Amino acid sequence: MTRELLRIGMFGYGCVGQGLHDVLNSSKGFKADIVRICVKDRTKQRRLPMNYFTFDKEDILNDPSINLVVELIDDADAAFEIVTRAMKNGKNVVSANKVMIANHFEKLVDLQDKHKVSLLYEASAGASIPIIRNLEEYYDNELLYSLRGILNGTTNYVLTLMHNHGIDYDIALGQAREKGFAESDPTLDVDGWDAKFKLCIITGHAYGLFLKPDEVFHYGIRNISKFDIRYAKEKGFKIKLVPYVGKTNENTITSFVLPRFISPDKYLYNVDYEYNGVITEAAFADKQFFSGKGAGGHATGSAVLSDISANSYGYKYEYKKYQQGTVQNYTRNHKIEIYLRYSDERDRELFNFEEVSEYFSGKTDKYVIGIVSLRKLYEIQEQLRSMNVFIVNTGRKII
Ligand code: HSE
Repeated sequence: MTRELLRIGMFGYGCVGQGLHDVLNSSKGFKADIVRICVKDRTKQRRLPMNYFTFDKEDILNDPSINLVVELIDDADAAFEIVTRAMKNGKNVVSANKVMIANHFEKLVDLQDKHKVSLLYEASAGASIPIIRNLEEYYDNELLYSLRGILNGTTNYVLTLMHNHGIDYDIALGQAREKGFAESDPTLDVDGWDAKFKLCIITGHAYGLFLKPDEVFHYGIRNISKFDIRYAKEKGFKIKLVPYVGKTNENTITSFVLPRFISPDKYLYNVDYEYNGVITEAAFADKQFFSGKGAGGHATGSAVLSDISANSYGYKYEYKKYQQGTVQNYTRNHKIEIYLRYSDERDRELFNFEEVSEYFSGKTDKYVIGIVSLRKLYEIQEQLRSMNVFIVNTGRKII
């Protein structure tokens, strides 16, 4: 197959943009020219000569010699405008913007079809782990029961520092930010938004449903306490933030983002620091495990490079599961066993526990382990953020 010569117009030159530039410079076998880079800040010192840069997006969008737009900016609304304009102008696009893709998924799929262009975004979920391409190609005819994993490097870094090194939450988060893993607004990481956006993108390729992020329950690690870490350690577990999507029957799926206890015999136990890990369970391939760096300029840049390279030989997502249309419904009619740490009995009552298997009441902290419905968790999602509680999915299968 002949490769098209790529002339790239890039938006953004932050952590991922610079990472991509390094990766592209060191990749001997593949040539693509970054001809223009559009940035916002006119005062920042840049590592490249200023003639590469422009502050006007039109310089890229209206340049007919640029045949690929690489969008790596932080602002999801601005990114959506750039990406849709580029596609309407007949340009292929590579993006790493999970917020934009998750929020406008269906529209972006339609635009690709309508304007006969390709939008690739492997870097948007799991960074260096090629999970989207695998779901598209390897699992195109697979009966996928479920997919779960660690999809946020920042929270995994924080949890690793807390668990393995006894470092406080705020200090650990500060370090994740310094290393360039966290979002500019780290609330997106610690409250589970980022993992949820990635889960929604993956769901589109795994099951062909383009869920609105608002439909999916998410809960992060902001409220984790030393008590929770001590509890997990005493039981031999680690706590990881684990998004899940899976089938509840032939044509229905459910999904959620929750911290989860992980025992040492599980794949995810040793996925530490900024690494991500994804486990798929399927009818024919059975259980598979993918792991790799999930955040950071070079890891994310490597996935962007892979998309750029795929683009040069005309690769497009075909959204095979969407075409097949097997999965039609989304449900929150699903039971989960959780650990709830709390101090006020009124908080516990909100959860409507259906069965309780363990209960502890100490001087300040109490905990209960029991079964709740995902529907109920979703109902109290907003209240949960301000409550002095912490929830962890025990991971026990409920029959
Ligand atoms: N803030 C994200 C994370 C960056 O920590 O995973 C990679 O998407």
